[in-house]
Amino acid sequence: MPSSNALDPQSPLARAIYDLGIMSGIVFALIFVIVAGGIVYAILRFRARPGEADPRQIAENKTVEITWTVIPFLIVIFLFVITLSAMNRADPPPAPTPDLIVTGHQFWWQADYPASRVTTANEIHIPAGKPLSVRLESQDVLHEFWVPKLTRKMTTVPGHTNYIWIQADKPGTYIGQCSEFCGTQHAWMRIVVIAEEPAQFEEWQNAQLKVARNPPNDVTARGRELFRTETCVNCHAINGVPGANVRVAPDLTHVASRRQLGSGIMPNTPENMRRWITNPQAIKPGALMPDFNLTNEEVDQLSEYLSTLR
Ligand code: CUA
Repeated sequence: MPSSNALDPQSPLARAIYDLGIMSGIVFALIFVIVAGGIVYAILRFRARPGEADPRQIAENKTVEITWTVIPFLIVIFLFVITLSAMNRADPPPAPTPDLIVTGHQFWWQADYPASRVTTANEIHIPAGKPLSVRLESQDVLHEFWVPKLTRKMTTVPGHTNYIWIQADKPGTYIGQCSEFCGTQHAWMRIVVIAEEPAQFEEWQNAQLKVARNPPNDVTARGRELFRTETCVNCHAINGVPGANVRVAPDLTHVASRRQLGSGIMPNTPENMRRWITNPQAIKPGALMPDFNLTNEEVDQLSEYLSTLR
């Protein structure tokens, strides 16, 4: 079961952060045990007893003062050094050109691969074992890209680029989440990262580059016509459909190949595609796709067409 457990690092980048957390946790726990233990011991051993005189007063004891200054100083130096080393390992300087550009939108993620010119949404494929330099952008408000098993978290800022690296030790599915409140559907900005063997990744990339397949029958042909003539094309692109090249909403060229709809709100099945097109607001209230009040027949045609776009 894919998860987003930050305590289960699956890349050298995430492991650096995890190791830092564990190591500083051990230091903090030791300090707690020693200080709290000393206090408890002093309370029990040296409590005031009836008839007892005041204890001997000691002040300005040099040995004690030097000891309790030097020990914390050394602890802070140690924490500083391991933090610096973790920062270097978890967050190396970006590559001159990014391998991947991720853009936060209300309420979904756009993923562009500049080298191959693949563009997709919410589901990010990466080759396992290879570090990728990621440029992070935002189309509207602050979001935060976070796939805990694979890398650090980083805010996406409108008009400003940030950089991280992402890597997965081995093939698998890794879940991430927008972690900066960005509006009503902040909770449904899932990220699915699918790490594959390099050959399989190439295959995926080549499939994504193909233009959309032609409608196999009359119903889907009418669906494509509706897509072009209704408002769909004002926001969505489908590669190979004339006039459908606006990308303010997810690119739909290969929408049926993705595992989820609505940025993770439900599995991508033909039935759910139908429900989504019927009224997105009933499923994801506040999503920027309005209810277009399409007839049942139109919904059938559109959703059947989109379900063929593998
Ligand atoms: Cu995007 Cu929270």
